[in-house]
Amino acid sequence: MKPISSRMSTISLSPIKDIERTARKLTNVISLAQGIPAFPPPTQITQTVIQHLSQHQAHTYTVPEGRLSLRKKIAQDILKRSQTHYNPETEILITGGAMAAIQATLLTLLNPGDEVVVLTPAYASYFGQIRSAGGVPICVSMRPENQFRLCLEDLKQAIRPKTKAILFANPNNPTGVNLQKQELQQILELALQHNLYVIADEVYRDFVWQGQHTPAASFPELKPQLISVFGFSKTYAITGYRVGYLATSASLANQILKVHDNMMTCAPHPAQIAAEAALELNEKEKYFMHPTLLQNRTKIHQTLNQLPHFQCHLPHAGYYLFAKLLPPSQHQPGSSTQFSQFLLQHAQVATVPGNAFGQEGYLRLSFALPPQQLETALKRIQKLLQSQSLPPTHTQAA
Ligand SMILES: Cc1ncc(COP(=O)(O)O)c(C=O)c1O
Repeated sequence: MKPISSRMSTISLSPIKDIERTARKLTNVISLAQGIPAFPPPTQITQTVIQHLSQHQAHTYTVPEGRLSLRKKIAQDILKRSQTHYNPETEILITGGAMAAIQATLLTLLNPGDEVVVLTPAYASYFGQIRSAGGVPICVSMRPENQFRLCLEDLKQAIRPKTKAILFANPNNPTGVNLQKQELQQILELALQHNLYVIADEVYRDFVWQGQHTPAASFPELKPQLISVFGFSKTYAITGYRVGYLATSASLANQILKVHDNMMTCAPHPAQIAAEAALELNEKEKYFMHPTLLQNRTKIHQTLNQLPHFQCHLPHAGYYLFAKLLPPSQHQPGSSTQFSQFLLQHAQVATVPGNAFGQEGYLRLSFALPPQQLETALKRIQKLLQSQSLPPTHTQAA
């Protein structure tokens, strides 16, 4: 048999999904690994989908760019958030989640060997997505000693003739850093200066606990080279529906649409109905998880900080704690993987090692789950670590 594409040797399954898969095979594991809000979505969403399905109004393909009624609602929402007008007919595409929006964009933009600057720590899948499109990820570290905020000089130095695009999540997953308007402006000015595309992943924009979210779309001068990405998965707890969107110039949207169509024809129709119902919710219904998430955020932060193994900062956004592993937990390269495996095997708690995001020495823990479950997970971690006089070693973690 002939070998498969050599590109595949550079790609592995996202470590987050790998861990989640392992966790689901084991019994009695509490997962703080994959970013799945473990809450039922607002009933209006479910009811609207059921109603459409039972009346046979959601079982067919939609047009490849997605339902126009949904695109119109999205355009209104973008206008309200960013004061920038996007034409729902030509400048918005409904996609199979934010993932498909990013992958279709990268496949549209990149030639083999083109470089994409990624602000790290970064969502683990970006690396595989860039490589899948034949590109080369170039990491620019938002350094821990700088509270994971952008150092403009580092970004400037990463830009080379082969650089095609800058890709980042704002707010950031895993660190929870929410870029200030000025920081965002600096990135965008650099992109304008070097004629680069900017892919701004804003899936956590509705989980900002400190400060405000500035949409990249609020800089209209960048519109011709900006691709703003959003997914409904997180805000509305509908990760399984697979629906998101991108907003960009009509000419780029037209090109990206061809790729998305070739990948999946259109975003799932029932999911588009769900997205439309989601955009009808009032503020209270929309932010239904917030009180619990805020309570969980305090709880996990306090509990882990009391253990000598961790040092944590309260995340300004998102629903992850990115905990620094202190010696002796962090005493050798690859230790975050070992530590994560140690917790999985001995405390039955799944977490994601920092190196999945390009940052060794850290552990990401999701706190988007019911408080009682979170409390049980934390008690398990406490019990294990307080009973261990030795740090996790290769042997223990094996
Ligand atoms: C930063 C970031 N972008 C995109 C996604 C995927 O979103 P979606 O479910 O809309 O594809 C995730 C999921 O965890 C994420 O953390």
